[in-house]
Amino acid sequence: MPDKRLAGALVAVVAAAGLATGVSTAAKAPTPKTLVQKNCAGCHTMKAAKIHGTFGPNLDKTKPTKARVLRMLKNGGVGMPAFTWSKARRQAVADWVAKKT
Ligand code: HEC
Repeated sequence: MPDKRLAGALVAVVAAAGLATGVSTAAKAPTPKTLVQKNCAGCHTMKAAKIHGTFGPNLDKTKPTKARVLRMLKNGGVGMPAFTWSKARRQAVADWVAKKT
């Protein structure tokens, strides 16, 4: 029954394609929390992100506004690099940090 085997192969291909799409979407759109964990952990402490750096200010203490986080991400600061992310990504991270601190 060649038809049945063909159908089976098709299902496998579609499943593999679906899996690949899922992976690439996740890689393209990391959550603000993941971004903070990956990029800010070496320097900042922030409870919600479970990071404990001590080089920069403790964000749980300074409780920066969204505008302040945006400015830091865009321009950097004394000892802090600027992040050349898309505006949407900077907005998302700034929003999350302002809300969670
Ligand atoms: C290499 C270390 C380093 C990294 C990485 C870093 N920062 Fe900073 N950050 C600093 C230092 C040092 C300051 C204080 C310098 C200043 O105020 O000009 C600072 C200041 C800040 C401030 C201002 C704090 C306040 O309320 O006064 C915010 C907000 C901030 N960082 C957010 C972030 C975020 C979000 C990330 C990750 C995307 C990040 N930083 C990554 C070192 C770092």
